[in-house]
Amino acid sequence: MKRQKIVAGNWKMNKTHEEALSLAQTLTEKSLPSDVKVILCTPSVFCSEVGKIVANHPSLNIGAQNCHHEESGAYTGEVSAAMLQSIGVQYVIVGHSERREYQKETSAVLVKKIDLLQSKGMTPIYCCGEPLKIREKGTHVRHVAKQIKDELFHLDKDAVQNIIIAYEPIWAIGTGLTASPEQAQEMHNEIRKVLQRKYGKRVSDKISILYGGSANAANAKTLFAQPDVDGGLIGGASLKADDFTTICNSY
Ligand code: PGA
Repeated sequence: MKRQKIVAGNWKMNKTHEEALSLAQTLTEKSLPSDVKVILCTPSVFCSEVGKIVANHPSLNIGAQNCHHEESGAYTGEVSAAMLQSIGVQYVIVGHSERREYQKETSAVLVKKIDLLQSKGMTPIYCCGEPLKIREKGTHVRHVAKQIKDELFHLDKDAVQNIIIAYEPIWAIGTGLTASPEQAQEMHNEIRKVLQRKYGKRVSDKISILYGGSANAANAKTLFAQPDVDGGLIGGASLKADDFTTICNSY
């Protein structure tokens, strides 16, 4: 089964206007593989302009890091899915562990975001993953399976195929501690089995599952070589054009 290969860069709260445009421009000049979908999830203030820079590029796409769970209204400071869509954003990260922790995002809120994005034909990049304590207890598979059941299982067979999943063990994010290729493969395979039991093999075989958590230019190759790892959600290493390009060329 050939699944879409995807590398998404999560720039988080980094870069000024000038730096953001310069990074995007530099990436358009790099040699990127045509069979990999590369998504730049920039801060939402830069999505419009970065979107224009990558608009005609064969592999580069624009994404956002979050949207509000309501359609519109009195939510001072928030950005809606419709706003992002109106500037050409097709992909939005949902459920990143940093937002679950700092913004106290619950499963109920994530379900609303996923449904709202899908109702607009946009694609959520849905994040799941366990904290260190759970990994140490050995209940990580059960923990992630529950996240998926609580947050994705309301979707029907068609809708669930319009989700990109990112497995991001929290203990590996920004810490320099990467999951080993075996740990990543184990969890990706378990996630695919959870999806298979609910939606069948034809569907579960189609869903791209990305690994995130200190993935970098040096370790991407062995991670991407795992049969159930379809790419990466890259934080720190997506801020450097050369490193990110190497990661995109690591299949
Ligand atoms: P990292 O972040 O690559 O800097 O660990 C990944 C993420 O949080 O998406």
